[in-house]
Amino acid sequence: MKQFGSALIALACRTSQPDEREHAFRRLALFGRQLRRALASIKPLRNAWHFTKALRGQTRWRTYDQATYAKYIGANPDPWGYSSWSSGLTEQKIQMAIDMVSKLGRTFERALEIGCAQGAMTERLAPLCKELLAVDFVLVALERARARCVVNNVSFARWDLASDPVSGQFDLIVITDVLGSFGGRRDVRRARDKLITALTPGGYLLYGDFIGDNLAQRIHDSWLGRALLFRPGKILGIFNAHPALVQISRRNTEGHLLALFQKRTATDGALPV
Ligand SMILES: C[S@@+](CC[C@H](N)C(=O)[O-])C[C@H]1O[C@@H](n2cnc3c(N)ncnc32)[C@H](O)[C@@H]1O
Repeated sequence: MKQFGSALIALACRTSQPDEREHAFRRLALFGRQLRRALASIKPLRNAWHFTKALRGQTRWRTYDQATYAKYIGANPDPWGYSSWSSGLTEQKIQMAIDMVSKLGRTFERALEIGCAQGAMTERLAPLCKELLAVDFVLVALERARARCVVNNVSFARWDLASDPVSGQFDLIVITDVLGSFGGRRDVRRARDKLITALTPGGYLLYGDFIGDNLAQRIHDSWLGRALLFRPGKILGIFNAHPALVQISRRNTEGHLLALFQKRTATDGALPV
């Protein structure tokens, strides 16, 4: 404090020499750094700062259209850290998704992966399927995925979940990290119904989304978050609300939630979809 006061006096005093003023500036800067460090070490303040930042991030969460995705993917060779975070959140998500599907202990006749991006999930799903169709609405993503997965049983197509019809039926549909940025409740319900129609009776649907760090998850789970935010927990609720689907497993990784559903068969007494 004493240092701060003398530095201010030196700056305020018009008679001080330029080198004195420079010295005073340096002392002020040092004081600023010490003050910031002292404040940051006060736990409640630090928590409040992190909370405010997380809350800001959550309330600013937006949906992304095709042009925004295309721009982002085009500008980043590895937009979601498929190579650089290979041991991080993305890898945990992919590994968990593959574990959940593998536990079913079967090979899928015809699978569909929606929003395949660079094909990181695609190449791990391929060995579990006789045929796998991977789709995305961004061309450059598809080109990268094609270059990454050169195997006979995988094909790629440009396709938009919001506007394109699904051709054919699939016994596995995988959709991870797409619906969280897709739209509002009505859009998600429409997409869900489209996917259920494309599932064979008894077929499986794996849904996954990014839920953020612990703080973001606490915000989602708070009464304010539940009232105001449309986040993955609610998307999961929309899937669970459909009478044709039964949730058969659910897992959380550090940053994602994943849920596996099965479409009821006629003998299960499913409602028509
Ligand atoms: C965050 S990446 C997720 C990629 C991958 N599914 C994963 O989990 O790692 C989202 C991808 O979904 C694609 N996507 C988003 N909305 C889509 C839509 N309406 N139709 C088709 N693809 C979409 C984006 O272009 C992007 O490549």
